[in-house]
Amino acid sequence: MRFDLRALLFALIATDCLAGGGAHPEHASHAMVVSQHELASQAGAQIMKAGGNAVDAAVATGFALAVVHPNAGNIGGGGFMLIRMNSGEVHFVDYRETAPARATERMYQDAQGNVIPNLSLVGYQAVGVPGSVKGLVYAEQHFGKLTLQQVMAPAIRLAREGFPLSWGAARMMSTEKDLARFADSRRIFQNGGRGWRQGEVFKQPELARTLERIAAIPDEFYHGRMAQEIAEFIRQGGGSLTTEDLAHYQVKDREAVRGKYRNVEIVSAPPPSSGGTALIESLNILERFDLAQAGLGSAKSVHLIAESYRRAFFDRAQFMGDPDFAAVPVTQLIDKDYAAAWSKSIEPEQGSVSLKLERPAKFPELNRYAREHPVFGVAEPHHTTHYSVVDAEGNAVATTTTLNDDYGSRVTIGSLGFLLNNEMDDFAAKPGVPNVYGLIQGAANAVGPNKRPLSAMTPTIVLKKGKLWLVLGAEGGPTIITSVANILIGVHDYGLDIQEAVNAPRIHQQWLPDRIELEPGRFSPDTVRLLQAAGNKVTPPDVDGDAECIAVDLSTGERLGASDARNENGRAVGY
Ligand code: GLY
Repeated sequence: MRFDLRALLFALIATDCLAGGGAHPEHASHAMVVSQHELASQAGAQIMKAGGNAVDAAVATGFALAVVHPNAGNIGGGGFMLIRMNSGEVHFVDYRETAPARATERMYQDAQGNVIPNLSLVGYQAVGVPGSVKGLVYAEQHFGKLTLQQVMAPAIRLAREGFPLSWGAARMMSTEKDLARFADSRRIFQNGGRGWRQGEVFKQPELARTLERIAAIPDEFYHGRMAQEIAEFIRQGGGSLTTEDLAHYQVKDREAVRGKYRNVEIVSAPPPSSGGTALIESLNILERFDLAQAGLGSAKSVHLIAESYRRAFFDRAQFMGDPDFAAVPVTQLIDKDYAAAWSKSIEPEQGSVSLKLERPAKFPELNRYAREHPVFGVAEPHHTTHYSVVDAEGNAVATTTTLNDDYGSRVTIGSLGFLLNNEMDDFAAKPGVPNVYGLIQGAANAVGPNKRPLSAMTPTIVLKKGKLWLVLGAEGGPTIITSVANILIGVHDYGLDIQEAVNAPRIHQQWLPDRIELEPGRFSPDTVRLLQAAGNKVTPPDVDGDAECIAVDLSTGERLGASDARNENGRAVGY
């Protein structure tokens, strides 16, 4: 199948529903793709029109995002794809990066044990073994209907022919100062130092060739000449990733984590993501309160939501990491009685002090473990990207993918045209030291060879009466978890439509730093004053937390797409 990009665009504009960031969801009777870039959403929708299912569309969208949204879309990073087929079969495809085999617990510390600034963030040592290519290929080969060449065709065309840059994308690439430190990154993403202007066409011939090679021989990335090229490039830059690391990389098809919130069922991300577990734990606590009665945006509602997040993030910090290396007590953390005990510690009129929280005694082994393992600091940058797909048969995909920080390690393999992740920064770099974001995590997330760093990515599917209802996800490091919870609460407890819920003001609390983060200007000064009077520090959030979601209208079957108003390029594309 070959695509003519311009013809495709005109055809889509003429026949498809396009919307993004508006006041209302996009309505479509058959299928919907929502992502952070219109051209990536179009690629997915077109694949479904050509006979593909939701997985084909998700893989097409994922590869297209690697071209049109290079700050987070990627082939040099990793992600999670949550798939629910209309039969009810669920797969959680984990293609999170792993630490290279030569990684050590103290690799980001100097001889005195001090964390070396930026070593896990910028440059070759920050790079984890990329999982995206293997994960997308795995999903396509196991659950898609078309060929890899078919679903990669739009991405290849976009890379080769280019696409016009929006004002925001042009500005962001041109002004990212750490990109300029690496010659190939400067050449490709900053137009050789000249920078980009709005409307200029951004072509990526090296990336087009790389994508063609992957479409022809997908294993090349992990075993063939391409693997040697990647490893040799990283070795020359002083990184530790080898051909053996690439050859040994494995995709994991895991059991999703499941919970119930009031009358709906949640299917979400298990470890090595903390997302699904923290989401379900927060909702279990909130279920003990009448949020609808408290009133949308009221101080009482913000208080209850923030207190539930505080407790779930406290547990997240203490217990979560790669389940292939340490037992993660997911069953206990999402236990309803445990949440009920937590809910009793919430004072109706007073904010808790994070460092004084006392874990309920329901599971003594949790308290014993917490005493024996002091918490560790970890930096957790805020940039990922999420996309949601529902097809005409009711198959659904929620994918969150990342280079970690915007543009990852900022290192581009010039001959292959793609950026490498800095996912190593999602590990805890040093015991007992809060990071620049003030986030804290436990021993389970220390750096270790072949480990997956803890993630907050929370691709989520919600079922009502056993039927597909919501497909949710967001970007934004730890705020991903609370954004997904905020959106679900908005639709479920406050009766917002999916677009209103995605656009609604966000509430974030992550245990430490001990503060409630509220989007500025979007909560009344009276509400903020009441929260402050209850002992809370209230600050703006560090991140805008773009979300790209779909709801299914259960009475008509319509697919309702909601691309976040916070972002200029995102679109819901349906037909
Ligand atoms: N790197 C962002 C996350 O995995 O949560």
